[in-house]
This record gives sequence, C-alpha cells and structure tokens, in this order.
Amino acid sequence: MLLNFGFIFLILVSLFRPVYQFSALIAEEPQAQKRQPERRDPDEYIKLLESERRIEGLQVDRVVESLKIRAGGKVADLGSGSGLFTRPMAKKAGPKGVVYAIDVDPKLLDHVARTSQAQNLANVKTVIAAEDDPKIPEKVDLIAIIDTLHHIGNQPTYLKMLRKYLRKNGRIAIIDFSKQWPAGHESMVYKLSDLEKWMKDAGFKRVEQFDFLDNDFFVIYR
Ligand SMILES: C[S@@+](CC[C@H](N)C(=O)[O-])C[C@H]1O[C@@H](n2cnc3c(N)ncnc32)[C@H](O)[C@@H]1O
Repeated sequence: MLLNFGFIFLILVSLFRPVYQFSALIAEEPQAQKRQPERRDPDEYIKLLESERRIEGLQVDRVVESLKIRAGGKVADLGSGSGLFTRPMAKKAGPKGVVYAIDVDPKLLDHVARTSQAQNLANVKTVIAAEDDPKIPEKVDLIAIIDTLHHIGNQPTYLKMLRKYLRKNGRIAIIDFSKQWPAGHESMVYKLSDLEKWMKDAGFKRVEQFDFLDNDFFVIYR
C-alpha cells in the first residue's frame, strides 16, 4: 500500500515538474529586471565616488550652488552615496536646515554620518531607504537625485510617489548620464527624453536646465 502511494507520488511529481519549473522562471523574471545594488567593497566604492576626476567631472561646487538651497531649507539627497553632495548641501542649509542623506546602503550612510560629524555638520541626518521608497522623514523643499535614478527600478511609479515628500513649491533636481555610460550600466540606460515623459506623467514641470556638465544632464522640476 505504502509502496503504491510512493509510486503515484513520484509519477505526479514528474508530471507537474515542467509546469513548476516554468512558473519558477516567470516568478524570477521581475527579480532579474530589478536594479540590484552591485556587490561592491564599500571602501573601494567610496574612493571611486570621491575621486578627484569624478568631483571635477560633476563640478560638485557649481552643482550645489545651482541648487539654490536657502539657509533653513530642508533637502533630501536621494542616493547620497558617500555624501559627496550631502556635505556641501548641508553647509548651504545651515544649522537651522536639514539634509537627509538617503541610501539603501547602510555602510555608505555610516561614512556620511562620520564625515559629516567630522565637519561639524549636525544638520545631516541619515536615512535607510527601501528600494522602492526613500522614506524621507518629512516633506522637503528639494529632492536631489544625483547619479542615482538609473539604479532605481520602475522610475515612472517611483517619481510619481515622490510628490508626497515635497513641500508646497518643492523641487526635484535630477542629474544623470547624458552621453557615455560606464561599462556595466547597459541595462540601466535611459534618456533625458524618457525622464521628461516620466516627470510630465507624474505632474511635474521642468523649471530649470543646466548645460555645464559634459557627460550629464541637470534638470530641475517643480
Ligand atoms: C553612483 S552613487 C551616487 C552617489 C551620490 N549621489 C554621488 O553622486 O556622489 C548611487 C547611489 O544610489 C544608491 N541607491 C541605489 N538604489 C537606490 C534606491 N532605490 N534608493 C536610494 N538609494 C539608492 C546606491 O547605494 C549608491 O550609493
């Protein structure tokens, strides 16, 4: 009797295996499409993000100047990385303002916290984001997404959701590659024209555009 059951069970498993395997493939597909953070050594990554060449290329001071952050302003640096932009933004926001350094990588946020403390920037607060939600603790005047939007999955939905984190007249500044994309980023490539459509669909209007970056667009929406 037991043997019979075992035999029937084996037949059933072998019959349904192809179906099971096929549905597993389908279930895995969205995962494959998700932009997973690359596996990387945080110290090496910080070195790369803060390399002189990158700082020059991204013209960090000029970008931060162009963001016109007022003293007392509330800013979210979404995808803060090592804090390259967070710290100068915090200087602009001043002691009465706040800059939320938002990232999915806690090790990078530790670095942001340490380096901000070393520069007496008590107005920098770190926040661990979810892949699909930055979890900004309060509404802000400016969300800056620098060299990060290509890492985020489902951008049209994500950008729509950001509205709830903006104060009245709040702005979103986006900087991303416009010409040469680094190797390994092939699956993340998008164009400024894509962004324009996503932002329009999300109800934002472009209010400024800067052309001084060689390899990146720099646009501000409200
Ligand atoms: C290329 S770095 C840019 C860092 C910084 N904005 C800069 O330009 O120096 C991209 C950062 O986005 C972060 N990131 C990736 N996906 C994210 C997400 N869904 N939400 C928040 N941060 C994310 C990564 O961990 C990484 O630190």
